Amino acid sequence: MALSSQAYKGTRDFYPEEMSVRRQVFEKFREIARKFGFSEYDGPLLESYDLYAAKSGEELVSQQLYSFEDRGNRKVAIRPEMTPTLARMVAAKLGELQPPLKWFSIPNLYRYERPQKGRLREHWQLNVDILGGDAELADSEILEFAAGVFDSFGCGDKIRIRVNHRAWVNYYMKDVLGLDAEKSLKLSKILDAKEKTTEEVFTSGVLEILEEGDMAKPKASLLKEYIDTPLVEMHKKYPNSPIAELSKVLETLGRPELFEYDPIIMRGLDYYTGIVFEGFDRSGSNRRAIFGGGRYDNLIALFGKQELSGIGFGMGDVVLMDFLSENQLLPKNQPKCDFFVSLPSNDFWKDASAFAKVLRDRNFSVQMSLKSGNFKQQLKAADRSGASFSLLFGEDEWKESKVILRNMKTSSQEVLSLEEISKKVF
Ligand code: HAM
Repeated sequence: MALSSQAYKGTRDFYPEEMSVRRQVFEKFREIARKFGFSEYDGPLLESYDLYAAKSGEELVSQQLYSFEDRGNRKVAIRPEMTPTLARMVAAKLGELQPPLKWFSIPNLYRYERPQKGRLREHWQLNVDILGGDAELADSEILEFAAGVFDSFGCGDKIRIRVNHRAWVNYYMKDVLGLDAEKSLKLSKILDAKEKTTEEVFTSGVLEILEEGDMAKPKASLLKEYIDTPLVEMHKKYPNSPIAELSKVLETLGRPELFEYDPIIMRGLDYYTGIVFEGFDRSGSNRRAIFGGGRYDNLIALFGKQELSGIGFGMGDVVLMDFLSENQLLPKNQPKCDFFVSLPSNDFWKDASAFAKVLRDRNFSVQMSLKSGNFKQQLKAADRSGASFSLLFGEDEWKESKVILRNMKTSSQEVLSLEEISKKVF
């Protein structure tokens, strides 16, 4: 039986045209990171299974992790996210590193998910994190960076960033609703899924948790208060709670049209302890978050080191590319080369490639034709190459040591000696 030429379910092949677009988007990421003064890092695709089991959260570990035993009976996993690797790397060199660290990476990640719009089993993810520094300032800088990505694509007005605070959620659930840790976690998962479920499912889920004889009603109305009350009023009502910190960051950021308080943003990963946020397509055409992140206080200490708090976000290429494409903002597939050199017969290869070398030494990109042919065939190949210029080696012209230089955009051409061409283009 013949082998299947399909990529493994939920993964993508990047053919050169798609690769060109991806490369340009990643270059933009790197350019923004440079402007914000972040340094790039990377780590291995394989990590120990325990790294994720510790803090990434039940759903990711038990349902989405690609894990296996290696030949030495060690349990390993293909990385589903970058944050645990970052925490491990920082913990390993904590003595030498000088926080605040401003680091970014663009790893390829794998999660066993049901492939659908915006979700695949493999994706690339821009990760931007700050470890150390003043929390309030670092929170603001990270949120500004996330917004900056969209500003630089020219669509800062087409997204909204919904912000919440894990400590505020915990405060409300414990101190206001009186729930224990287990019930708080359950309720936060129900709130997190609110937009993906029907009103009935949501309400019955909530009541199941809040049901405690006579207490069910008042608790339900307190939960309604939690969901519906605007930030300013909530802050007034609970001035000494962690909502004060959230208000301060949103105030520092300004741009109320972009950053908004949203009490149902929870984030699926368990390690967040402070600000949490997700960025969405304002048009609603992409339901999935384009990016998400938050502050984590306890990741470095997992490695037996002193604590170092961090904040960061991950932005996947799948939803981002859909979003950019729907807004006609995807970079174009770039022209492939400056010169295409074509030959009437294979005998010309030696002279032609010697000239190609001269051009390459001057930093031009030059494609040599890999099939000689008559003038018409050569032109067709030059057209297909996407080059800006072509050099056509004709039998008659070459007898006088000349070649044809053709501008592929205007179709104008001149018969010139190699020196004349050199003078023209260098
Ligand atoms: P996350 O919310 O799991 O966070 O992923 C961040 C982003 O990656 C999502 O908003 C989405 O754009 C993309 N993404 C995640 N899973 C998939 C998938 N299966 N297919 C396509 N895109 C996907 C994290 O991973 C955190 N580690 C981010 C972080 C960094 N927090 C702090 N620093």
